Amino acid sequence: MATEQRVTQLSLALLLVAATSVAASVAPSAPDFTLIAHRGASWDAPEHTFAAWDRALADSATWIEQDLVMTADGVLVVFHDDTLGRTARGPAALCTGRVAERTLADLAQCEVGSWFNAEYPDRARSEYALERIRTLDEVLTRYRNRGRFYIETKRPEESPGMEEALIALLKRHRLAGPGAERGRVTVQSFSAAGLARLRGIDSGLDLVRLLDDPIPRDSLGAVMQEIALYAKGIAPSRRIVTSAMVETAHAAGLYVHVYTVNEPAVLRWVRANNVDGVFTDRPALLRRELRLDP
Ligand code: G3P
Ligand code: CA
Repeated sequence: MATEQRVTQLSLALLLVAATSVAASVAPSAPDFTLIAHRGASWDAPEHTFAAWDRALADSATWIEQDLVMTADGVLVVFHDDTLGRTARGPAALCTGRVAERTLADLAQCEVGSWFNAEYPDRARSEYALERIRTLDEVLTRYRNRGRFYIETKRPEESPGMEEALIALLKRHRLAGPGAERGRVTVQSFSAAGLARLRGIDSGLDLVRLLDDPIPRDSLGAVMQEIALYAKGIAPSRRIVTSAMVETAHAAGLYVHVYTVNEPAVLRWVRANNVDGVFTDRPALLRRELRLDP
């Protein structure tokens, strides 16, 4: 068994044991709990498609997530992977290889739904095969007045200018810069340097630091204090989150959103440990569970 898989299973086992022993009364009330639709409602529809974001909003997700990659001609598109092979289908010369080596015109020839229909026949819909790779501009335009956008800059060091392009686009939609409508955009990244660049361009933007490496307990205070210099929250993987991490983040004034939570038992653990919200592929399921909260 791979080391990462063993760690994941161990962490989940610890989560489930803890879920039975921590008093639920310390959890925040359900209406305040944040649900971020991870790549949209990506359990029910192909990730990062209009179908997935439409479904997420219908399921009362608080935020819809977008992962950002930059094309060879400098356009911000919403796509998770570095390469096209897992979810894009179309002419091989255009719809395989690295996104960063394809132009927007290339990507317009690809669809991103038929992989889902093949992988999940019980959730398949013929219309998913019509879904296209979307620019962030298209997504902001479609959901500007009804969505809240939780945008991840993916591998920004490989795409110089990504932060500047993102801010320029957000400004066009009046979601950044002077006179912007605040509270509708959060930008998340594993890259502290990328977040610092964003803060330097627009100090009013809400930023969240993604974390996927375990943090020794005796370093938690210093790490959270450092993150609090530029971000409003942290988003740790469920593999590394601990109750001490949540407490220390809160003490530093940071909120905590855990990724990716699809199981009611894990939801119960995060709620009992005062986590402020989760990324989920299944906002409908988790919303139902939250309504059942005591
Ligand atoms: O952004 C939170 C979470 O989505 C990070 O993981 O790989 O799904 O983008 P990933
Ligand atoms: Ca993400």
